[in-house]
Amino acid sequence: MMHLGWFLTTGFGVYGWNQPWSGNSADDVGRPDLFVDAARSLERAGFDFMMLEDSSVLPDVFRGTFESSVRRGTTVRFDPMPLVPLIAAATERIGIVATVATTFYPPFLAARLFATLDHLTKGRVGINLVTASADGAAQNYGLDKQIEHGLRYEMADEWVDVVTQLWSSWDEDAVVADPASGVFADHEKIHTVDFDGTYYKSRGPLNLPMGPQQGRPVICQAGGSPAGKNFGAKHADTILSMVKGVDAMHEFRADISRRLIDAGRKPDDAKVMFLVNPILGDTDEEARAKRDRLRAQQRENIDGVLAAMSYFSSTDFSQFDLDAPVPDLTRFNGHKSTLEDMAKSGKTLREIALNYKTIESMELVGTPDSVAAQMDEAMEEIGGDGFLIASQVTRKAVAEIADGLAPALRKRGAIRDGYSKPTFRENLTAF
Ligand SMILES: Cc1cc2nc3c(=O)[nH]c(=O)nc-3n(C[C@H](O)[C@H](O)[C@H](O)COP(=O)(O)O)c2cc1C
Repeated sequence: MMHLGWFLTTGFGVYGWNQPWSGNSADDVGRPDLFVDAARSLERAGFDFMMLEDSSVLPDVFRGTFESSVRRGTTVRFDPMPLVPLIAAATERIGIVATVATTFYPPFLAARLFATLDHLTKGRVGINLVTASADGAAQNYGLDKQIEHGLRYEMADEWVDVVTQLWSSWDEDAVVADPASGVFADHEKIHTVDFDGTYYKSRGPLNLPMGPQQGRPVICQAGGSPAGKNFGAKHADTILSMVKGVDAMHEFRADISRRLIDAGRKPDDAKVMFLVNPILGDTDEEARAKRDRLRAQQRENIDGVLAAMSYFSSTDFSQFDLDAPVPDLTRFNGHKSTLEDMAKSGKTLREIALNYKTIESMELVGTPDSVAAQMDEAMEEIGGDGFLIASQVTRKAVAEIADGLAPALRKRGAIRDGYSKPTFRENLTAF
Protein backbone atom coordinates (compact mmCIF):
# COMPACT_ATOMS: atom_id res chain seq x y z
CA MET A 1 0.00 0.00 0.00
CA MET A 2 1.05 3.59 -0.52
CA HIS A 3 0.68 6.68 1.63
CA LEU A 4 -0.88 9.88 0.35
CA GLY A 5 -0.30 13.47 1.36
CA TRP A 6 -1.46 16.78 -0.11
CA PHE A 7 1.01 19.64 -0.39
CA LEU A 8 -0.62 23.07 -0.33
CA THR A 9 1.99 24.76 -2.50
CA THR A 10 1.31 28.28 -1.29
CA GLY A 11 0.56 27.46 2.34
CA PHE A 12 -2.20 29.41 4.04
CA GLY A 13 -2.34 31.65 0.99
CA VAL A 14 -4.57 32.73 -1.87
CA TYR A 15 -5.68 29.90 -4.17
CA GLY A 16 -6.98 30.07 -7.72
CA TRP A 17 -7.35 33.82 -7.80
CA ASN A 18 -9.65 34.72 -10.67
CA GLN A 19 -9.34 31.21 -12.12
CA PRO A 20 -12.12 28.92 -13.34
CA TRP A 21 -13.63 26.76 -10.57
CA SER A 22 -12.43 29.00 -7.78
CA GLY A 23 -15.23 31.51 -7.99
CA ASN A 24 -15.40 31.97 -4.24
CA SER A 25 -11.70 32.56 -3.73
CA ALA A 26 -12.17 36.14 -2.50
CA ASP A 27 -14.38 34.80 0.31
CA ASP A 28 -11.77 32.22 1.23
CA VAL A 29 -8.85 34.62 1.70
CA GLY A 30 -7.64 34.55 5.30
CA ARG A 31 -10.43 32.17 6.33
CA PRO A 32 -10.20 28.53 7.34
CA ASP A 33 -13.10 27.22 5.23
CA LEU A 34 -11.28 26.13 2.05
CA PHE A 35 -8.63 24.34 4.10
CA VAL A 36 -11.15 22.73 6.43
CA ASP A 37 -13.25 21.58 3.45
CA ALA A 38 -10.13 20.15 1.79
CA ALA A 39 -9.01 18.38 4.97
CA ARG A 40 -12.41 16.76 5.46
CA SER A 41 -12.43 15.52 1.86
CA LEU A 42 -8.86 14.22 2.11
CA GLU A 43 -9.66 12.45 5.36
CA ARG A 44 -12.64 10.79 3.70
CA ALA A 45 -10.16 9.67 1.02
CA GLY A 46 -7.73 8.18 3.58
CA PHE A 47 -4.87 10.69 3.18
CA ASP A 48 -2.12 10.54 5.80
CA PHE A 49 -1.69 14.29 5.93
CA MET A 50 -2.00 17.71 4.40
CA MET A 51 1.06 19.91 4.46
CA LEU A 52 1.11 23.69 4.44
CA GLU A 53 4.08 25.31 2.71
CA ASP A 54 5.30 28.55 4.24
CA SER A 55 7.64 31.47 3.78
CA SER A 56 7.84 34.86 5.44
CA VAL A 57 8.62 37.34 2.74
CA LEU A 58 6.72 39.30 0.15
CA PRO A 59 9.26 39.09 -2.67
CA ASP A 60 10.18 42.12 -4.75
CA VAL A 61 13.30 40.65 -6.34
CA PHE A 62 11.87 40.29 -9.85
CA ARG A 63 12.09 43.73 -11.54
CA GLY A 64 12.47 45.26 -8.08
CA THR A 65 8.72 45.48 -7.43
CA PHE A 66 6.03 43.61 -5.48
CA GLU A 67 3.86 43.44 -8.61
CA SER A 68 4.47 39.81 -9.58
CA SER A 69 3.99 38.79 -5.95
CA VAL A 70 0.64 40.36 -5.30
CA ARG A 71 -1.08 40.76 -8.68
CA ARG A 72 -2.47 37.24 -8.46
CA GLY A 73 -1.87 36.85 -4.76
CA THR A 74 0.77 34.18 -5.35
CA THR A 75 3.08 35.06 -2.49
CA VAL A 76 0.52 36.22 0.05
CA ARG A 77 0.97 34.01 3.15
CA PHE A 78 -0.97 34.01 6.38
CA ASP A 79 0.73 32.35 9.32
CA PRO A 80 -0.21 28.66 9.08
CA MET A 81 0.08 27.90 12.81
CA PRO A 82 -3.34 29.21 13.96
CA LEU A 83 -4.95 27.29 11.10
CA VAL A 84 -3.74 23.93 12.43
CA PRO A 85 -6.15 23.58 15.39
CA LEU A 86 -9.04 24.88 13.28
CA ILE A 87 -8.48 22.06 10.78
CA ALA A 88 -7.99 19.59 13.63
CA ALA A 89 -11.30 20.60 15.23
CA ALA A 90 -13.15 19.71 12.02
CA THR A 91 -11.42 16.36 11.43
CA GLU A 92 -10.62 13.16 13.34
CA ARG A 93 -7.62 11.36 11.87
CA ILE A 94 -5.77 13.24 9.12
CA GLY A 95 -2.30 14.61 9.99
CA ILE A 96 -1.73 18.37 9.66
CA VAL A 97 1.78 19.53 8.80
CA ALA A 98 2.93 23.13 9.17
CA THR A 99 6.24 24.51 7.92
CA VAL A 100 8.90 25.98 10.15
CA ALA A 101 12.09 27.70 8.99
CA THR A 102 14.72 26.50 11.45
CA THR A 103 16.89 29.47 10.49
CA PHE A 104 14.43 31.93 11.99
CA TYR A 105 12.36 30.13 14.64
CA PRO A 106 13.98 30.11 18.09
CA PRO A 107 14.10 26.43 19.15
CA PHE A 108 12.31 26.90 22.48
CA LEU A 109 9.45 28.77 20.78
CA ALA A 110 9.09 26.02 18.15
CA ALA A 111 9.34 23.18 20.67
CA ARG A 112 6.67 24.76 22.87
CA LEU A 113 4.39 25.62 19.93
CA PHE A 114 4.50 22.12 18.41
CA ALA A 115 4.15 20.40 21.79
CA THR A 116 1.03 22.52 22.34
CA LEU A 117 -0.27 21.75 18.83
CA ASP A 118 0.32 18.06 19.49
CA HIS A 119 -2.07 18.29 22.46
CA LEU A 120 -4.59 20.48 20.62
CA THR A 121 -4.70 18.12 17.62
CA LYS A 122 -4.69 15.00 19.82
CA GLY A 123 -1.48 13.79 18.21
CA ARG A 124 -2.00 14.79 14.60
CA VAL A 125 0.50 17.59 14.05
CA GLY A 126 3.59 17.39 11.85
CA ILE A 127 6.43 19.83 11.26
CA ASN A 128 7.95 20.48 7.83
CA LEU A 129 11.51 21.60 8.47
CA VAL A 130 12.99 24.01 5.96
CA THR A 131 16.02 26.26 6.20
CA ALA A 132 14.45 28.98 3.96
CA SER A 133 16.34 30.59 1.12
CA ALA A 134 15.35 34.18 0.37
CA ASP A 135 17.45 37.11 1.54
CA GLY A 136 14.22 39.08 1.97
CA ALA A 137 12.98 36.60 4.58
CA ALA A 138 16.30 36.78 6.44
CA GLN A 139 16.04 40.59 6.44
CA ASN A 140 12.61 40.35 8.09
CA TYR A 141 14.27 38.56 11.00
CA GLY A 142 17.09 41.04 11.44
CA LEU A 143 19.79 39.46 9.27
CA ASP A 144 21.45 41.30 6.39
CA LYS A 145 21.15 38.33 4.08
CA GLN A 146 20.40 34.63 4.16
CA ILE A 147 22.95 32.43 5.90
CA GLU A 148 25.08 30.27 3.58
CA HIS A 149 23.41 26.99 2.49
CA GLY A 150 25.80 24.53 4.22
CA LEU A 151 25.81 26.50 7.46
CA ARG A 152 21.99 26.68 7.43
CA TYR A 153 21.85 22.87 7.48
CA GLU A 154 24.57 22.66 10.16
CA MET A 155 22.50 25.01 12.31
CA ALA A 156 19.30 23.12 11.48
CA ASP A 157 20.90 19.92 12.70
CA GLU A 158 21.66 21.44 16.08
CA TRP A 159 18.23 23.10 16.11
CA VAL A 160 16.51 19.70 15.85
CA ASP A 161 18.73 18.41 18.62
CA VAL A 162 17.62 21.15 21.07
CA VAL A 163 13.98 20.92 20.05
CA THR A 164 13.93 17.13 20.42
CA GLN A 165 15.53 17.33 23.84
CA LEU A 166 12.98 19.94 24.92
CA TRP A 167 10.15 17.70 23.69
CA SER A 168 11.50 14.95 25.95
CA SER A 169 12.07 17.16 28.98
CA TRP A 170 8.98 15.66 30.62
CA ASP A 171 9.08 11.87 30.98
CA GLU A 172 6.18 10.00 29.45
CA ASP A 173 4.77 9.22 32.92
CA ALA A 174 5.45 12.64 34.48
CA VAL A 175 1.75 13.54 34.60
CA VAL A 176 0.15 11.77 37.55
CA ALA A 177 -3.18 13.62 37.56
CA ASP A 178 -4.17 11.92 40.80
CA PRO A 179 -7.16 13.56 42.47
CA ALA A 180 -6.61 11.50 45.64
CA SER A 181 -3.14 12.91 46.36
CA GLY A 182 -3.86 16.16 44.54
CA VAL A 183 -0.65 15.81 42.54
CA PHE A 184 -0.80 16.91 38.91
CA ALA A 185 2.76 16.05 37.87
CA ASP A 186 5.79 14.38 39.44
CA HIS A 187 8.58 16.98 39.56
CA GLU A 188 11.22 14.25 39.60
CA LYS A 189 10.21 13.22 36.09
CA ILE A 190 10.79 16.66 34.58
CA HIS A 191 14.34 17.59 33.61
CA THR A 192 16.30 20.61 32.47
CA VAL A 193 17.97 20.25 29.10
CA ASP A 194 20.92 22.58 29.64
CA PHE A 195 21.68 22.62 25.94
CA ASP A 196 24.79 24.64 25.15
CA GLY A 197 25.73 24.16 21.48
CA THR A 198 27.59 26.13 18.83
CA TYR A 199 24.51 28.03 17.68
CA TYR A 200 21.81 27.50 20.29
CA LYS A 201 21.47 27.49 24.02
CA SER A 202 18.39 26.56 26.03
CA ARG A 203 17.89 25.56 29.64
CA GLY A 204 14.48 23.87 29.52
CA PRO A 205 12.38 22.05 30.52
CA LEU A 206 9.26 22.90 28.53
CA ASN A 207 6.50 24.20 30.77
CA LEU A 208 3.97 21.70 29.46
CA PRO A 209 3.79 17.91 29.37
CA MET A 210 4.73 15.67 26.48
CA GLY A 211 2.07 15.35 23.76
CA PRO A 212 0.24 12.25 22.52
CA GLN A 213 2.92 11.46 19.89
CA GLN A 214 5.45 10.57 22.61
CA GLY A 215 7.05 13.97 22.45
CA ARG A 216 7.86 13.80 18.78
CA PRO A 217 5.51 15.36 16.26
CA VAL A 218 6.02 13.81 12.80
CA ILE A 219 9.01 15.45 11.10
CA CYS A 220 8.81 16.08 7.34
CA GLN A 221 11.70 17.28 5.20
CA ALA A 222 12.30 18.02 1.53
CA GLY A 223 15.96 18.85 1.02
CA GLY A 224 17.40 17.84 -2.36
CA SER A 225 21.10 18.71 -1.88
CA PRO A 226 23.49 16.26 -0.18
CA ALA A 227 23.33 18.38 3.00
CA GLY A 228 19.53 18.47 2.79
CA LYS A 229 19.27 14.72 2.22
CA ASN A 230 21.64 13.96 5.11
CA PHE A 231 19.59 16.20 7.35
CA GLY A 232 16.38 14.42 6.30
CA ALA A 233 17.95 10.98 6.70
CA LYS A 234 19.03 11.86 10.22
CA HIS A 235 15.81 13.39 11.49
CA ALA A 236 12.78 12.98 9.22
CA ASP A 237 9.86 10.58 9.45
CA THR A 238 8.88 11.40 5.89
CA ILE A 239 11.07 12.76 3.10
CA LEU A 240 9.48 14.56 0.16
CA SER A 241 11.02 14.88 -3.24
CA MET A 242 10.32 16.17 -6.72
CA VAL A 243 13.17 14.50 -8.62
CA LYS A 244 12.10 13.95 -12.20
CA GLY A 245 11.25 10.57 -13.71
CA VAL A 246 10.90 7.01 -12.46
CA ASP A 247 14.63 6.23 -12.70
CA ALA A 248 15.56 9.30 -10.67
CA MET A 249 12.81 8.47 -8.16
CA HIS A 250 14.18 4.95 -7.79
CA GLU A 251 17.71 6.29 -7.33
CA PHE A 252 16.46 8.89 -4.82
CA ARG A 253 14.81 6.20 -2.68
CA ALA A 254 17.97 4.06 -2.82
CA ASP A 255 20.12 7.09 -1.95
CA ILE A 256 17.91 7.97 1.04
CA SER A 257 17.99 4.33 2.21
CA ARG A 258 21.81 4.43 2.18
CA ARG A 259 21.87 7.73 4.04
CA LEU A 260 19.39 6.41 6.62
CA ILE A 261 21.65 3.44 7.28
CA ASP A 262 24.68 5.77 7.55
CA ALA A 263 22.68 7.77 10.10
CA GLY A 264 22.10 4.61 12.16
CA ARG A 265 18.49 4.18 11.11
CA LYS A 266 16.58 1.62 9.07
CA PRO A 267 15.49 2.34 5.45
CA ASP A 268 11.86 2.06 6.53
CA ASP A 269 12.29 4.65 9.30
CA ALA A 270 11.48 7.40 6.79
CA LYS A 271 8.71 7.24 4.24
CA VAL A 272 9.80 8.69 0.90
CA MET A 273 7.01 10.40 -1.02
CA PHE A 274 7.09 12.02 -4.45
CA LEU A 275 5.32 15.13 -5.67
CA VAL A 276 2.74 14.66 -8.41
CA ASN A 277 0.02 16.73 -9.97
CA PRO A 278 -2.48 14.25 -11.48
CA ILE A 279 -4.61 15.56 -14.34
CA LEU A 280 -7.90 13.66 -14.41
CA GLY A 281 -10.68 13.40 -16.98
CA ASP A 282 -13.70 11.25 -17.73
CA THR A 283 -11.68 9.75 -20.58
CA ASP A 284 -7.93 9.59 -21.24
CA GLU A 285 -8.38 11.92 -24.26
CA GLU A 286 -10.20 14.48 -22.14
CA ALA A 287 -7.41 14.37 -19.55
CA ARG A 288 -4.74 14.79 -22.23
CA ALA A 289 -6.57 17.77 -23.73
CA LYS A 290 -6.74 19.30 -20.25
CA ARG A 291 -2.99 18.74 -19.81
CA ASP A 292 -2.27 20.45 -23.14
CA ARG A 293 -4.41 23.44 -22.17
CA LEU A 294 -2.62 23.76 -18.83
CA ARG A 295 0.83 23.55 -20.43
CA ALA A 296 -0.14 26.21 -23.00
CA GLN A 297 -1.27 28.53 -20.21
CA GLN A 298 2.02 27.93 -18.47
CA ARG A 299 4.01 28.81 -21.55
CA GLU A 300 2.24 32.16 -21.68
CA ASN A 301 3.39 32.89 -18.16
CA ILE A 302 7.18 33.24 -18.60
CA ASP A 303 7.18 36.20 -16.21
CA GLY A 304 5.57 34.06 -13.50
CA VAL A 305 8.31 31.46 -13.89
CA LEU A 306 11.09 34.06 -13.88
CA ALA A 307 9.55 35.66 -10.77
CA ALA A 308 9.57 32.26 -9.02
CA MET A 309 13.21 31.66 -10.02
CA SER A 310 14.11 35.17 -8.83
CA TYR A 311 12.47 34.47 -5.51
CA PHE A 312 14.23 31.26 -4.65
CA SER A 313 17.64 32.49 -5.85
CA SER A 314 17.28 36.07 -4.49
CA THR A 315 18.54 37.19 -7.93
CA ASP A 316 16.56 39.33 -10.38
CA PHE A 317 16.17 37.12 -13.45
CA SER A 318 14.80 40.04 -15.49
CA GLN A 319 18.47 41.16 -15.90
CA PHE A 320 19.44 38.05 -17.92
CA ASP A 321 19.11 37.57 -21.67
CA LEU A 322 16.27 35.09 -22.24
CA ASP A 323 18.06 33.59 -25.25
CA ALA A 324 21.54 33.21 -23.81
CA PRO A 325 22.64 30.08 -21.95
CA VAL A 326 21.46 30.15 -18.39
CA PRO A 327 23.98 31.88 -16.11
CA ASP A 328 26.01 29.95 -13.55
CA LEU A 329 23.41 29.70 -10.83
CA THR A 330 25.39 27.54 -8.46
CA ARG A 331 27.00 30.52 -6.76
CA PHE A 332 23.57 31.61 -5.52
CA ASN A 333 22.47 30.73 -2.05
CA GLY A 334 18.89 29.59 -2.56
CA HIS A 335 17.28 26.20 -3.07
CA LYS A 336 20.63 24.79 -4.14
CA SER A 337 19.62 21.49 -5.71
CA THR A 338 16.97 23.15 -7.89
CA LEU A 339 19.41 25.81 -9.12
CA GLU A 340 22.08 23.23 -9.86
CA ASP A 341 19.67 21.15 -11.94
CA MET A 342 18.98 24.22 -14.10
CA ALA A 343 22.67 25.07 -14.49
CA LYS A 344 23.49 21.51 -15.51
CA SER A 345 20.81 21.46 -18.20
CA GLY A 346 22.83 23.79 -20.50
CA LYS A 347 19.60 25.37 -21.78
CA THR A 348 18.72 29.00 -22.33
CA LEU A 349 16.57 30.79 -19.82
CA ARG A 350 13.66 30.89 -22.28
CA GLU A 351 13.87 27.13 -22.83
CA ILE A 352 13.90 26.51 -19.11
CA ALA A 353 11.03 28.90 -18.47
CA LEU A 354 8.93 27.44 -21.31
CA ASN A 355 9.47 23.89 -20.09
CA TYR A 356 9.25 24.71 -16.43
CA LYS A 357 6.90 21.93 -15.44
CA THR A 358 4.57 22.28 -12.56
CA ILE A 359 6.28 20.78 -9.57
CA GLU A 360 6.02 17.07 -10.08
CA SER A 361 8.18 13.96 -10.25
CA MET A 362 6.23 12.23 -13.00
CA GLU A 363 3.35 13.12 -15.26
CA LEU A 364 0.04 11.44 -14.38
CA VAL A 365 -2.72 12.01 -16.91
CA GLY A 366 -5.89 9.98 -17.53
CA THR A 367 -9.06 8.68 -15.96
CA PRO A 368 -9.00 7.94 -12.22
CA ASP A 369 -8.59 4.22 -12.98
CA SER A 370 -5.72 4.67 -15.42
CA VAL A 371 -3.90 7.17 -13.17
CA ALA A 372 -4.36 4.81 -10.20
CA ALA A 373 -2.77 2.03 -12.28
CA GLN A 374 0.16 4.32 -13.26
CA MET A 375 0.74 5.24 -9.61
CA ASP A 376 0.62 1.62 -8.49
CA GLU A 377 3.05 0.55 -11.20
CA ALA A 378 5.45 3.42 -10.46
CA MET A 379 5.55 2.61 -6.75
CA GLU A 380 6.35 -1.03 -7.57
CA GLU A 381 9.28 0.09 -9.72
CA ILE A 382 10.56 2.80 -7.41
CA GLY A 383 10.16 1.11 -4.06
CA GLY A 384 8.87 4.39 -2.65
CA ASP A 385 6.21 4.83 -0.02
CA GLY A 386 3.67 7.06 -1.67
CA PHE A 387 2.79 10.35 -3.32
CA LEU A 388 2.33 13.92 -2.30
CA ILE A 389 -0.36 15.57 -4.39
CA ALA A 390 0.45 19.17 -5.29
CA SER A 391 -2.56 20.02 -7.44
CA GLN A 392 -4.32 23.37 -7.56
CA VAL A 393 -6.44 23.88 -4.47
CA THR A 394 -10.01 24.40 -5.57
CA ARG A 395 -12.94 22.46 -4.16
CA LYS A 396 -13.39 20.88 -7.59
CA ALA A 397 -9.74 19.77 -7.84
CA VAL A 398 -9.81 18.34 -4.32
CA ALA A 399 -13.04 16.42 -5.11
CA GLU A 400 -11.45 14.96 -8.27
CA ILE A 401 -8.68 13.46 -6.17
CA ALA A 402 -10.68 12.61 -3.03
CA ASP A 403 -13.77 11.23 -4.74
CA GLY A 404 -12.30 10.14 -8.09
CA LEU A 405 -8.68 9.05 -7.79
CA ALA A 406 -8.64 7.84 -4.16
CA PRO A 407 -11.57 5.41 -4.60
CA ALA A 408 -9.86 4.05 -7.75
CA LEU A 409 -6.67 3.49 -5.75
CA ARG A 410 -8.66 1.89 -2.91
CA LYS A 411 -10.39 -0.47 -5.34
CA ARG A 412 -6.91 -1.75 -6.28
CA GLY A 413 -5.99 -2.18 -2.62
CA ALA A 414 -3.29 0.47 -3.11
CA ILE A 415 -4.34 2.82 -0.27
CA ARG A 416 -5.80 2.42 3.18
CA ASP A 417 -9.48 1.88 3.83
CA GLY A 418 -9.92 3.87 7.03
CA TYR A 419 -7.42 4.69 9.76
CA SER A 420 -6.31 2.03 12.20
CA LYS A 421 -4.85 4.38 14.85
CA PRO A 422 -5.55 7.77 16.39
CA THR A 423 -2.21 9.55 15.85
CA PHE A 424 -0.52 10.76 12.68
CA ARG A 425 2.74 8.96 13.53
CA GLU A 426 0.99 5.63 14.12
CA ASN A 427 -0.93 5.85 10.84
CA LEU A 428 2.20 6.86 8.92
CA THR A 429 4.13 3.90 10.28
CA ALA A 430 1.23 1.41 10.09
CA PHE A 431 2.58 0.04 6.76
C1 LIG B 1 7.51 19.12 -1.17
C2 LIG B 1 8.38 20.27 -0.86
C3 LIG B 1 7.97 21.18 0.08
C4 LIG B 1 8.74 22.29 0.41
N1 LIG B 1 8.26 23.23 1.28
C5 LIG B 1 8.96 24.35 1.51
C6 LIG B 1 8.42 25.38 2.33
O1 LIG B 1 7.30 25.30 2.81
N2 LIG B 1 9.17 26.49 2.55
C7 LIG B 1 10.44 26.62 2.02
O2 LIG B 1 11.09 27.65 2.26
N3 LIG B 1 10.97 25.65 1.25
C8 LIG B 1 10.27 24.54 0.97
N4 LIG B 1 10.79 23.55 0.17
C9 LIG B 1 12.20 23.64 -0.26
C10 LIG B 1 13.05 22.59 0.47
O3 LIG B 1 12.98 22.75 1.87
C11 LIG B 1 14.51 22.65 0.00
O4 LIG B 1 15.10 23.85 0.37
C12 LIG B 1 14.60 22.47 -1.51
O5 LIG B 1 13.98 21.26 -1.88
C13 LIG B 1 16.05 22.48 -1.99
O6 LIG B 1 16.84 21.54 -1.30
P1 LIG B 1 18.15 22.01 -0.51
O7 LIG B 1 17.71 22.96 0.58
O8 LIG B 1 18.71 20.73 0.08
O9 LIG B 1 19.07 22.67 -1.47
C14 LIG B 1 10.01 22.46 -0.20
C15 LIG B 1 10.44 21.53 -1.17
C16 LIG B 1 9.64 20.46 -1.51
C17 LIG B 1 10.11 19.48 -2.56
